Amino acid sequence: MKNNAFAIVIFGATGDLARNKLLPALFRLCQHRQLGSRFYIIGFARRPLTNLQFRQEVSSMFFLKKEEKKDLERFLSRLHYQQGLFEDVAGYNQLIKLIHEIDAVAGERVKRIFYLATAPDRYNTILSFLEKTKLSKGHDKKNKPRVALEKPFGKDLETAKRLDKKLSQIFPEEQIFRVDHYLGKETVQNILTFRFANNIFEPVWNKEYIDHAQITFAEKKGIMGRGRFFDGVGLLRDVGQNHLMQLLASVVMEQPKSFARDGGVRDARSAAISAIRCIEPEDVEKYVVRGQYTGYLAEEGVMRDSQTETFVAMKLFIKTPRFSGVPFYLRAGKKMPKNHVSISVIFRQTCHVLFKEYGCPEVGNILTFHIQPDEGITLSLVSKRPSPVMSIKPVSMRFSYKEAFGRAGVEAYEKLLLDILAGDQMLFNRSDELESSWDFITKILKGWESQKAKVKNYKPGMWGPKEANELIEKDGRKWL
Ligand code: BG6
Repeated sequence: MKNNAFAIVIFGATGDLARNKLLPALFRLCQHRQLGSRFYIIGFARRPLTNLQFRQEVSSMFFLKKEEKKDLERFLSRLHYQQGLFEDVAGYNQLIKLIHEIDAVAGERVKRIFYLATAPDRYNTILSFLEKTKLSKGHDKKNKPRVALEKPFGKDLETAKRLDKKLSQIFPEEQIFRVDHYLGKETVQNILTFRFANNIFEPVWNKEYIDHAQITFAEKKGIMGRGRFFDGVGLLRDVGQNHLMQLLASVVMEQPKSFARDGGVRDARSAAISAIRCIEPEDVEKYVVRGQYTGYLAEEGVMRDSQTETFVAMKLFIKTPRFSGVPFYLRAGKKMPKNHVSISVIFRQTCHVLFKEYGCPEVGNILTFHIQPDEGITLSLVSKRPSPVMSIKPVSMRFSYKEAFGRAGVEAYEKLLLDILAGDQMLFNRSDELESSWDFITKILKGWESQKAKVKNYKPGMWGPKEANELIEKDGRKWL
């Protein structure tokens, strides 16, 4: 993309996503000279701002070192602002004029990228106007516009399908980038490298050796004033349908043909998600626990009798020969004791009978991918304790990103934006994988609708309601 001129139009440019993720990521890319010299960023939003005011707002988002000020100036000079209402053609017409002006400055027709960073209920309207005003049309075969959309992509299977239908009527699949930023995280990308580039894991990555797996997605924060968005959406849709499913897919997927673009990673991911055994609505009570932290009902924008979940735990199975019968325990929640996202694969207890009398650990070896924080991978092993008598102790071998590479990796949005610019869709959801994950999630939602039992409460700072412990303990296992 370095030599190609492009304009990225951010719809919802003054919103949280643009402010917290997209603009900072674009700034870092610009600072590291990864956007080339002919890039233009157009903020499109409702508020009446001049270019200068928009630049000032963006500038106030950054806390930079003195020596970075020049980089910021350079970045700001690339920002333009287009005031417009999403539901009024006038703003889009102005946008067309602005893009033509940019074409004239660039000396060529710049590539158009439309990034929908708005509330999802605006997607339909924006897509319709992109179509109506022909902004969605390419001017030649090589230079077709791209569209990027943030999750949540729909509210259930039905709405996700409807949105996808609309999207595919306007843009061909190769121009669509459905974003789940967890796919852009270095630690998530590394799961496949770790599994398939180290031959020692593949022979034991199956039901013969694996007892079970656990995925934890814990956040210390609550809903951070997002009550109006979150209530009625809930944690299952907010992180379950997307981030949790992607973490699961990275552990259970079969080996793709290659890691090159179109090398089959999306096929393998999609097959993995469609292999999740659905939990039928009548079984939801048995396999899924939903919790809500005490105090949630008093949050701004939340209905006083809301049954929206801020925590979910579930047990599921994968319908592949490799994993059939292996339980996967997943839990995700707000107001947890700490920030912690990890995947642990717990191998069968194979501590040799010879060592039993010296105290084998209760569970077998554990391989943990620490997604964040303290990014790294650990493997628990049994070791002889230094001592004149025979005595054993579980120890941990650790790979830390910071120690090995000096840092945890590139920010997810930087990677994803570069891939959108390069037209590489490997780390973006394809419609079939979304459909499978929504199918799985929608059945749980249906189960909850028909369920009389209310959401279970838990105190902030706890690992969810006690039922989450019971879910795993009744199988003779424990959350790690
Ligand atoms: C978002 C969810 O997709 O991911 C948020 O909407 C959640 O509720 C966030 O807090 C977590 O992302 P990260 O990168 O901070 O772990």
